[in-house]
Amino acid sequence: MKPYIINTHSHINMLRETNIDDAILNAKKENIIIIVPSSTADDIFEVDNFIKKYENMFGYVGVFPEEVKTFTEKTLNDMENIIKNNDKIIGIGEVGLDYYWDKTYKELQKDVFIKQIEFANQMNLPLNIHSRDAHLDTLEILKKYNKNSIAILHCFSGSLEFAKECVKEGIYIALGGVVTFKNAIKAKEVAKNIPIEYLLLETDDPYLAPVPFRGKENQPVYVKYVAEYIAQLRGVSTDEIAKITTQNAERIFNFNEK
Ligand code: NI
Repeated sequence: MKPYIINTHSHINMLRETNIDDAILNAKKENIIIIVPSSTADDIFEVDNFIKKYENMFGYVGVFPEEVKTFTEKTLNDMENIIKNNDKIIGIGEVGLDYYWDKTYKELQKDVFIKQIEFANQMNLPLNIHSRDAHLDTLEILKKYNKNSIAILHCFSGSLEFAKECVKEGIYIALGGVVTFKNAIKAKEVAKNIPIEYLLLETDDPYLAPVPFRGKENQPVYVKYVAEYIAQLRGVSTDEIAKITTQNAERIFNFNEK
């Protein structure tokens, strides 16, 4: 199957109001491939099992910044075993820094982020990164510790200037439903102006549904509304945005070998 869009970040296993099988079918009908991140040291096993069941699905293993307290000495070992036994695990994520909710364990977040970057380097896998109110630290840590993994900033929330700085470092920018929100001036600027070779699409469902579903539960197929919106901003066709972002993702994840 030639994918139409690769949705690089969807927590489809966390949908509550939408039937998960329906959501998978909706995506499949439109040739949308879904990549599912994990969040805690325990749900890496859940994601591993979940994605095995569906042909249009891949996954990341990683511990999310707000869940770093679940990270233990055996977590990287567990991840390594999962990766070795499931070739549908194609990256490390979601990992990163989040200073929005709680700044009290910044140092632990940094430490676990660095360990997971080094692990991604060792496994030679891309990194799917969550960064909220922590842009400068995220970039500084990546510059210092990331040797050979392609980095993706998921649900990018920085300025255009910062996006350009990231692109200069070879970092990819993933955009989701936020870009369609009326007040998301920065995200629109980023979507319109970054080099298209560094753009990726996602939904981050069940959160952040794009217009016209804003406020409702998001689902992976809605990534097409993100593509449509960015296409309008850039004055190109939706197919063009779908095609190039799919090529970008295929290059990052070596999809053509899978
Ligand atoms: Ni997420």
